[in-house]
Amino acid sequence: MVAAVSSAGGLGSLPVGGQSPDRTRTLIREVKALTSKPFAVNLFAHQLPAQVDPGQFARMHQILRQIGAAYGMQWEQPSLENLKFFLAQDQIPVLLEEKIPVVSFTFGALGSEVIQAFSNEGIVTIGTSTCLEEALFLQGQGVSAVVAQGIEAGGHRGTFLTPEQPPQIGLAALVRGIAKQVQIPVIAAGGIMDGAGISATFSLGAQGVQLGSAFLRCAESAGAPGYKAAVAASADTSTVLTRAFTGRWARGIRNEFIQKMEEHTAAVCPYPRSGKPDKTHAGAGETRKCASVIPVVGRPGSLPCPRIARRANCAETDSGNRTIWKH
Ligand SMILES: Cc1cc2nc3c(=O)[nH]c(=O)nc-3n(C[C@H](O)[C@H](O)[C@H](O)COP(=O)(O)O)c2cc1C
Repeated sequence: MVAAVSSAGGLGSLPVGGQSPDRTRTLIREVKALTSKPFAVNLFAHQLPAQVDPGQFARMHQILRQIGAAYGMQWEQPSLENLKFFLAQDQIPVLLEEKIPVVSFTFGALGSEVIQAFSNEGIVTIGTSTCLEEALFLQGQGVSAVVAQGIEAGGHRGTFLTPEQPPQIGLAALVRGIAKQVQIPVIAAGGIMDGAGISATFSLGAQGVQLGSAFLRCAESAGAPGYKAAVAASADTSTVLTRAFTGRWARGIRNEFIQKMEEHTAAVCPYPRSGKPDKTHAGAGETRKCASVIPVVGRPGSLPCPRIARRANCAETDSGNRTIWKH
């Protein structure tokens, strides 16, 4: 998917949050083998909770085992001591060695020193914000550009200043508010599905867009068939914000797993030591049915990396090859 997007003229983004340095390097090299075009690597910038209550951890896995059993799924509780989560700082040396041109991150801030180290190597950095305060915070650390992630966005909220109570700001208000206050390019994310959506965010002051849910049903998507079918069958009212999957707030398609976990909210451990039975995670944004191939697009010359902006003059055609939208 990453290679296909970059080869098509967008900026594919390789998510390596939580992966070991070795696995991170392997994934990067796999993408490099598939495309000569630049791509971004995406990190999780969170810290681990100081401690996890073993009783809460055991209760959560007991519930997961029960839910899994109803679907004939095996559920083995991992040992809390053996669970290893790799952090961004474990992966950063690999990104520098592999000369990744664009590094994006979510769930936090990498810190001024790390941003400076990337900048010294000519690497573009993109942080994720869900409110103006977070955007200003990231700008203060020296990032090259900031994602404005509206409440419509599929998947996890990038919130890091108030993770327990994520801001719920709609994309239009968020992009406009941030674009008026920061001096760096703003990348709009959340519920953008087509050229008209991209164009609207540009009118609000965005200089690029980030798309996620629009790609879930692509042939290149690693989503399970059941997941893709759930996306295809969903309506504009199907998604909810939930902590059920990982302990961190995320938008997903409401399903039986979310419903069942709502009865057990106290058992959900703090991210990332929560868990989920396979094939139940259905993250998707508020408008989910189309599939295009432009995850990051920028206005000409607006983003610090000319390679991101390269794909700026895009158009959308209908099945008769008539232009229905052009920027
Ligand atoms: C299934 C799924 C997985 C995602 N994983 C990541 C991730 O690893 N890192 C990240 O920064 N954003 C991630 N996102 C969020 C996207 O970067 C983006 O903010 C979001 O998809 C935009 O909203 P949309 O889904 O409505 O297009 C994910 C989104 C989805 C739907």
